[in-house]
Amino acid sequence: MNSMKQTTEVLLHLAPAEVANLKEGINFFRNKSTGKDYILYKDQNHLKACKNLCKHQGGLFIKDIEDLDGRSVKCTKHNWKLDVSTMKYTNPPGSFCQDELVVEMDENSGLLLLELNPPNPWDSDPRAPEDLAFGEVQVTYLTHACMDLKLGDKRMVFDPWLMGPAFARGWWLLHEPPSDWLERLCRADLIYISHMHSDHLSYPTLQKLSQRRPDVPIYVGDTERPVFWNLKHSGVQLTNINVVPFGAWQQVDKNLRFMILMDGVHPEMDTCIIVEYKGHKILNTVDCTRPNGGRLPVNAALMMSDFAGGASGFPMTFSGGKFTEEWKAQFIKTERKKLLNYKAQLVKDLQPRIYCPFAGYFVESHPSDKYIKETNIKNDPTQLNNLIKKNSDVLTWTPRPGATLDLGRMLKDPTDSKGIVEPPEGTKIYKDSWDFQPYLDTLHAAVGDEIFLHPSWIKEYFTWAGFKNYNLVVRMIETDEDFSPFPGGYDYLVDFLDLSFPEERPSREHPYEEIRSRVDVIRHVVKNGLLWDDLYIGFQTRLQRDPDIYHHLFWNHFQIKLPLTPPNWKSFLMHCG
Ligand code: FES
Repeated sequence: MNSMKQTTEVLLHLAPAEVANLKEGINFFRNKSTGKDYILYKDQNHLKACKNLCKHQGGLFIKDIEDLDGRSVKCTKHNWKLDVSTMKYTNPPGSFCQDELVVEMDENSGLLLLELNPPNPWDSDPRAPEDLAFGEVQVTYLTHACMDLKLGDKRMVFDPWLMGPAFARGWWLLHEPPSDWLERLCRADLIYISHMHSDHLSYPTLQKLSQRRPDVPIYVGDTERPVFWNLKHSGVQLTNINVVPFGAWQQVDKNLRFMILMDGVHPEMDTCIIVEYKGHKILNTVDCTRPNGGRLPVNAALMMSDFAGGASGFPMTFSGGKFTEEWKAQFIKTERKKLLNYKAQLVKDLQPRIYCPFAGYFVESHPSDKYIKETNIKNDPTQLNNLIKKNSDVLTWTPRPGATLDLGRMLKDPTDSKGIVEPPEGTKIYKDSWDFQPYLDTLHAAVGDEIFLHPSWIKEYFTWAGFKNYNLVVRMIETDEDFSPFPGGYDYLVDFLDLSFPEERPSREHPYEEIRSRVDVIRHVVKNGLLWDDLYIGFQTRLQRDPDIYHHLFWNHFQIKLPLTPPNWKSFLMHCG
């Protein structure tokens, strides 16, 4: 075993004269030899320091001219704001903390900014790469974020979403899965599910699999909100779910091990994985915004990550104020470009041998979501691959469903014509029809549920949800398919300051949001105590807000923090009956 020691790295050294010139408030510095930027905050009593690196997607902070107290900086990429005097982000409000660096004086009154580096967990017990035989490691793309890996005599599958919709009825598979997908899943020795979002944890897919093989071994990270929090209620019978700690090798056999790491932005729910076979690493960062806080192994044999964007209700489901069609189109265009550059930079920094963009192959194909489908433009993987090729000699692979990459061949000779085997000629690549009805019927069944005969369900539901003491008033409107009020549907106000349900907006100063939701989806979500991802990420709402602020605490609660068990409607009905 290699001994794992924490090390200290000096990131920046300020000479005594520079220290004497530090001004009260915010100071920006660049280390000229590394090109890295830092922020130092000084007040009478203390100094605070951090990297000038936004937690969101690594943007650069500049002075926030709107902040008159001189404590805030603003990110040049998407306008997040950081109060450097507290190291807390103020936009989104109540969200994240910036990691602080250690500030130390040296013996000459110079100043050092230090980072304590915990060792990289994957460096424990390192293995030198061994030669791989042809056919020994094969990676087959199935759909979206689902890969089937043959690693010696073991088989591992990532994130199987192969049937049905994700996010209620908002997302559908773009690619036609290979016809043998179920056999492939059934013979897996391990299935890794990165997080609870339904394009990764697909209950319809797992339902099908569980009928054939309920004991298939599934591995998830030990996230604060369990990945399978809703398993019992889903009715899917899986008997071999394993929750593993972060940052520790899980040895599968002599040659194969894997390690699950957390996301730096959403550690409570999101993860990524390193798989290592005979010393060759396969890095799958899935959907993580800042996988493992930005510390990842370099020179992996194969890296895969998301690339597409568009996996959010913002901004296409918003209207009012600045949200004109032109603004939204322009926003999407620049955001997607930023995302491409960010991913290209990540690949450049990590220098994998091969890079594969995936996990973005969904389409809003239900006819009632035509507007979203047409406007929510996603990145093209070829564009990203071209950008990567321009900046590095990393090989890229844009897989088609059923295509297989032979890692041994590709590492040995990237020009080997058998390195990538494409699906047979004539194979259907894109889906052109989807089985909407059974899934819509399930959602629709909630509309006539008995609980909605009693208007007191509203109080019952929001009390169960447990979000309050926050100055926000929300108007919730149930709608038809076109987001017009549903005849006989509910239209009500929730004041989250004291969790009351007033007839009119309160007279005090308050932020306000209007949320229109398709009646089948909102009632299904309410009835089953589901997360609002189905509404928001699934494009099943339309939103207006005044002022135009992202209420992180509110959305984070309804998207991640709702109770783990659904409301007790049985007892509710007994008491109001
Ligand atoms: S707001 Fe800073 S990178 Fe997005």
